[in-house]
Order: sequence, then structure tokens, then C-alpha cells
Amino acid sequence: MSLLRRKPIAVDHKGGTELARTLSWPHLVALGVGAIVGTGILTLIGVGADRAGPAVILSFVIAGAICACAALAYAEMATMIPASGSAYTYSYVALGEVIAWVIGWSLILEYSLVVSTVAVGWSGYASALLTPWGFPVALTQGPELGGLVNVPAVFIIAVVAGLLMLGTKESATLNAVLVAVKLVALAVFVAVALPHFDAANLTPFMPNGFAKSVSPDGTERGVMAAAAIIFFAFYGFDAISTAAEETKNPGRDLAIGIVGSMVGCVVIYMGVAITAVGALRYTAFADSPEPLALILRGIGRPGFATFLAASAVIALPTVLLGFLFGQSRIFFVMARDGLLPASLAKVSRRGTPVRITILTAVLVAIIAGVMPIDAIAALANAGTLAAFVAVCVAMLVMRRRAPDAPRTFRTPAAPLVGTIGIAGCVYLFFSLPTTTQVYFVLWNVAGLAVYFLWGRKRAGAALAG
Ligand code: ALA
Repeated sequence: MSLLRRKPIAVDHKGGTELARTLSWPHLVALGVGAIVGTGILTLIGVGADRAGPAVILSFVIAGAICACAALAYAEMATMIPASGSAYTYSYVALGEVIAWVIGWSLILEYSLVVSTVAVGWSGYASALLTPWGFPVALTQGPELGGLVNVPAVFIIAVVAGLLMLGTKESATLNAVLVAVKLVALAVFVAVALPHFDAANLTPFMPNGFAKSVSPDGTERGVMAAAAIIFFAFYGFDAISTAAEETKNPGRDLAIGIVGSMVGCVVIYMGVAITAVGALRYTAFADSPEPLALILRGIGRPGFATFLAASAVIALPTVLLGFLFGQSRIFFVMARDGLLPASLAKVSRRGTPVRITILTAVLVAIIAGVMPIDAIAALANAGTLAAFVAVCVAMLVMRRRAPDAPRTFRTPAAPLVGTIGIAGCVYLFFSLPTTTQVYFVLWNVAGLAVYFLWGRKRAGAALAG
């Protein structure tokens, strides 16, 4: 029965493993928008256009709607269980230990591969600025694309990890400034490119059909295949919930942070996506490493293209910050629960888990150095989709099991929203490339082996102690 044992809602932690409470809701909204607006809208919009054609707009709507359902469930769970482990902790409380382990393991996949993906996306814009200055192209991409190693991607991960180790609050404040830079850049993109909108660019609207299907070149395409990639652009609000134990007033601040940042981003993305496919034929920017800058050059505005690339280079690290922060917190909580080695859960004098941050940074830098962006993003999405399903299920289960437990945020029309969230995420998962689905299953088989050989006994001791 230990497989199904559950964690109580409130857990007292022994001294030495508490995180410092330094954040309030403006920090969280900034952390949320900082983590959401990133490589998804700046780079993967090109991959999405390749998969769906102009109907990538529909892919944005579908992925956004599904994410919104999950965000509502997250907000409810985060205010009910304000602990750092996010979906992992909610699953532990609602669904039992073995599910929690699978979700924790999926979150590790999500957070680490998001950091790698965004670092590669950052490199796409940075390299475009660097190569005219003589920076060798072979050092701007991994072997699969003909380069040696993606040096800018590795570099930016090292910088962000260093910032995080200096302390949460300093990083969150800097984050707020960089978020503003990113939003201005997207606003400028829309303002400059929208006047070039030409309805002819939208036909044929759905060249690859709706459901995922294999194109003659072997790539899986269609509106849903694009939605399964574009999904990447919408998450990040979940990183806010990992800051729960560092939030001054978690009940109010988490709900504002999660719902507010999600809604804002949906509006911004629709504007950018419609502008992009309307301003230039999608084939011109599909699969580009810096599609929005390319569009601006394509309509004859190279100055603005450079401005946008520079803004991306300055501001994209906020996404890395949000996810590297979240990753280290999830490792931290799993280690504290006994599911990962306890020595990893040590907190430094500044209240930050330094060892986990370093370990994570090294691993994600290696992946970012050698892998192509669409493959990493798809696998990150698989992990995230698993976590989102678990959070929606946990929300529905807790409504039945503990209907009167305090929640400062309640999901409206919970049964409907929860069910759409679950069904939508499952559909998106099966719209991912088949190889991604296989890798995801292999990752979790490996995870379960670790659990049964190592984590299960220790977790029991940690819960009892
Ligand atoms: N939503 C984040 C991005 O687009 C992960 O980069």
C-alpha cells in the first residue's frame, strides 16, 4: 500500500530546510510573465507555422484554451497546498506516492528541457547578432544541425544559474525589469508588422489538415501537431507555484500571479501570431531560428529586426530564470521527501539551494549544447502535459475528498474545466511526434526503476519522521 500513501496537506519541516519568504504578488506576476513569454512565441512560432501553415493561429487558440483550464486548476491547488513542489506535491497529497513520483519525474523533464530549449532559442537570436562580428557559425548550433556545440546556449545557462545562486529576491526584481523589455519588443513587432497584413498570406489557411498526419518528408504536421509544439509558449505560470514557500501571502498572491499572467499572455500571443502570418508568407519564416526578426527584415525594417533580436537577447533569460528556479525547487522538495538524495536539499546561508542549482545547470547546459530545438521542446511539452493532467485530476479528487478544506481560489465550473483540461492535454500529448511519446515513456520507466530500487523505502522514512 505504500505506493498509494499520501502526504498530509500541511507538513512541518525540520530546521535547515526552510526557504526564506521574500516574494509578493507583483514579483509573482513578473515571474509568471517572465517565464511564459519566451522561446515559444519568439522561435517556436516558426516551427508551428511549418507544421500548420497560417492555421498556426488556430493552434495558438487550442493550446491556449487547454492551458487556461490547467492554469485554473493550478491556481486552486496552489492556494490549497502552498508548497514548493507544484504538481508533484499536489499529486502526493491527492493521488498517492507512486503517481507523485511519476509526476515529479515528468516535472524534472519539463523544467530541465524548457531551460535547454529556451537557451537554444536565445542562441538563435544572439547568434544572428554575433555572426556579423565574426563569431564562428559552428559554435552557434549543435552537431545535428552541422555545428559543433551551441556555445551561446551553454553560456546563458551559466549566467542565469549564477544569478539564482545569489538569491531569490535580487533575481525576481531584475526579472521584473527584463519582463518589461520583452513586452515592449513584442508590442513594437505588432506595431511595425501589422500594417503589412495581407489576407492573401493566409491562403491556403490549413495546408496540412487538422489532426496530426505524416508529411511526405517524414515530419508530423497539422494544426494539432503545431498546437502540441506551440503549447510550449503558454506554460510558465506553473513555475509561480514552485515559489509558494517563498511567498509572503501565498493564498492571495499565488491566485493573482497564476491567473493574471496567463490571461495577459494569451492576449499578447494572439496579436503576435495574427501579425506574423499576415505580414509575410509563412513558408518564409517556418523553422527559422529567429522568425520574428526575419519577418521584420522581410518587410524591409532591418533596424526594428535588430532591436527585436537585442531585446530577446536581453530579456529571454527571464524564462530561464523562472524555470531554473522552479527546477531547483522541485528537486529540493523531492529530496526533502526522501525521493532524491537528501544531501541535495541543503540550503545555503542565503536561503537558496545551491547544490541543486549547479547540478541542474550542468545537465541542461549539456543538452542545450548539442540538441535541436524542436526535439527538446516536444519532450519538455510531454512532461508538462503529464503534470497538467495530474493537476486537473488532483483538483477534481480534492473537491470530492476535502470539499470544505480552505482554498482562496476556486476554479469556476470545476468539473467542466477539469475535464476539458484533462482531455485536451491527452489529445495534445498524442499530437506530439511519436518518437517524443516513446522517449517520454522510456524516461518514466527509468524513473520508476529508480523509485522501486531506491526512493520508495526512504520516502516512507521521511514521511514518518
Ligand atoms: N512559455 C515559455 C516560452 O515560451 C516556456 O519560452
